[in-house]
Amino acid sequence: MKLNSAVAAALLAPGNVVALLRFPCAQLVIDRIDPLVNPGQAPSPHLHQIVGGNSLNVTMDPAKDMPGESTCTSCQFSEDFSNYWTATLYFKAKNGTYKRVPQLPNSGFNGVNGGMTVYYMQDGLYNFQQTSKVTAFKPGFRMYIGDVNARTKEQAERYRQLTFTCLQTINTRDPQTLDFPDKPCPAGIMTAVRFPTCWDGKNLDSPNHMDHMAYPEFGTFESGGPCPASHPVRVPQLFYEVIWDTRQFNNPADWPDDGSQPFVWSFGDGTGYANHGDYLFGWQGDALQRAMDSPCYQNCPTLKSQNAAAMNKCTIKPKVNEDIDSWVKTLPGGHVANYVKKRWE
Ligand SMILES: *[C@@H]1O[C@H](CO)[C@@H](O)[C@H](O)[C@H]1NC(C)=O
Ligand SMILES: *[C@@H]1O[C@H](CO)[C@@H](O)[C@H](O)[C@H]1NC(C)=O
Repeated sequence: MKLNSAVAAALLAPGNVVALLRFPCAQLVIDRIDPLVNPGQAPSPHLHQIVGGNSLNVTMDPAKDMPGESTCTSCQFSEDFSNYWTATLYFKAKNGTYKRVPQLPNSGFNGVNGGMTVYYMQDGLYNFQQTSKVTAFKPGFRMYIGDVNARTKEQAERYRQLTFTCLQTINTRDPQTLDFPDKPCPAGIMTAVRFPTCWDGKNLDSPNHMDHMAYPEFGTFESGGPCPASHPVRVPQLFYEVIWDTRQFNNPADWPDDGSQPFVWSFGDGTGYANHGDYLFGWQGDALQRAMDSPCYQNCPTLKSQNAAAMNKCTIKPKVNEDIDSWVKTLPGGHVANYVKKRWE
């Protein structure tokens, strides 16, 4: 714990030389669309929280470099028109109704409206050198990680580091679990989504949006494990942190008497094992490669930055009109909580 708070403090210190990109993205929209997994569908099966470039649409044709059509981005670096998204979190009350859990900005990013924190790393988070060579993603590149149908630990373990942290403070980073925290978390719940870091070097996408990517053959990205021959190109570790502001739902009297925990993904997973994320690359020109080749921290000199007000201003209207703020009887799309994990399991 001591090491972790030291690392958190180091990461927050202004002027620190840690060489990685860590930046906030304000909420672009909360909408029931998914141009990667369900292109053309509005509504898509479940609700997402989405950040990045404002050209986001129901369909994003990779051949057209859609992110390049953006006129603003909700992310700090104004050359980054990528789109980043995850499902949203809901609280299920004792009376069986659901309320969407709002999002909080990460530590160091006060004033940014909701959204998430995005990292691009050359080496593991706790490696302060960040010297390894990585190849930036190409225009049209996209990927997905996780399994929306996972409901067991074994199913979740096929992926590396899709985790939850029960925040005691905004700087808590450990322990991390593969399922939802089973107790109220005083400062909220953080979900982390780490994408694979080895690319096949050829395909911008694949039918399941995962097969063009792989994990290191042995070891980990953090330990410098080599990419397999099938996926030889080492790309940046893309990593999302989303902080769910569960504070208004933390009264144990509101929690179910049957020992289940009350949080549920917007598609009905009550275990948390189906944590997943989506990415659509959209950096302008060679901005991402330049940044990765000249290690920097937060205010990277090779990149243009915008302030929180500019990030917050970049929003779009949802394509699907539905109530995402009230107490509701079913989740958007008609889902209900399933496979709810008992707290004593
Ligand atoms: C989104 O797609 C629709 C239908 O193809 C199109 O009419 C609309 O202009 C697009 N919006 C943006 C912001 O590109
Ligand atoms: C259900 O419970 C929540 C939380 O206590 C409350 O705010 C909401 O109004 C209740 N809804 C109904 C229909 O009773």
